[in-house]
Amino acid sequence: MTQTIQWFPGHMNKARNEIKDIMPEMDVVIEVIDARIPYSSENPMVAKLRGQKPVIKILNKADLADPDQTKAWIEYLESQDQVKAIACDDNKTVEVKRIVQLCKQLIPNKVGTGRQIKVLIMGIPNVGKSTLINALAGRSIAKTGDEPAVTKSQQLIKIDDDIMLYDTPGMLWPKIENPNSGYRLAATGGIKDTAFDFADVASYTAEYLIEAYPELLKARYKIEELPKTDWEFFEVAGRNRGLLQKGGIVDTYRMSEILVNELRSGTLGRISLETPEMREKEEVMVEGLLAAAAEKKEAKVEEKRLRRLRARKNRK
Ligand code: G4P
Repeated sequence: MTQTIQWFPGHMNKARNEIKDIMPEMDVVIEVIDARIPYSSENPMVAKLRGQKPVIKILNKADLADPDQTKAWIEYLESQDQVKAIACDDNKTVEVKRIVQLCKQLIPNKVGTGRQIKVLIMGIPNVGKSTLINALAGRSIAKTGDEPAVTKSQQLIKIDDDIMLYDTPGMLWPKIENPNSGYRLAATGGIKDTAFDFADVASYTAEYLIEAYPELLKARYKIEELPKTDWEFFEVAGRNRGLLQKGGIVDTYRMSEILVNELRSGTLGRISLETPEMREKEEVMVEGLLAAAAEKKEAKVEEKRLRRLRARKNRK
């Protein structure tokens, strides 16, 4: 499965410009990511544009993620410069207090001065940014326009006398260079179903789960001996579920839908689709892909230049 999923229409510039303009004024950045895929749900722009500003990474939807992996991710992220990380589940009461406290600890010289700590909150769509904003504000705040066609102005949300939250309406896309990230974003419901081939995503998911969470699959789908391949798994699990079509053929497509839906809802158990080790490895792969693409582009430019040169010579 090497095909790259292209689901982004390219509205990144608007968000980039908004963030670039506002960043110099900010004291702290909050980046909301998905605890099940902390690597793929990041936006690479945040790291590029924040410079030396402190960032608090919120590993949201931690109630759906593998607690051991979330712990490993927090350690990994906090080993980076100016990065703090907090896991957040669907009851955000405790975490919200910690986030507020942390902002004040990071910028102590503004506390109680009447000059508010300016906090920029960012996150890819559907990661739970609005839910977190509401929890931080203690009231329901209207969503900023996250449809590319809707232009709404930036929102300023007062958290308390010391903290002002800034929410930008531009769309922030997740990682697009890594094909694996596309599958994981799709598997967790982070991108819309129409943007990818569902069968591919389900296959990717099954392959990963057979390797990383065999016991959960065995328990949920009542399988004693787990098959090694995705298609055999869909066959066996589908048969156990009674998903039979005419002639006793198993409806493997229906089974693949069930698997992905049960992963998304947490019915299958608490599952993470990424580890810090995977990130390290894949970053190297992505660098290679980007370098190869840049080389190809350069070669094309050179070819064009030579063609023009030849055409000019022929005219003489
Ligand atoms: P966004 O602004 O980043 O686009 O995301 P939003 O807050 O709208 O949240 C997207 C979905 O994620 C919502 O579900 C929301 O309830 C859910 N969500 C947010 N935080 C958490 C969390 O910590 N844990 C879990 N399990 N889910 C979380 P939805 O199905 O789209 O809407 P609804 O069911 O809340 O109506």
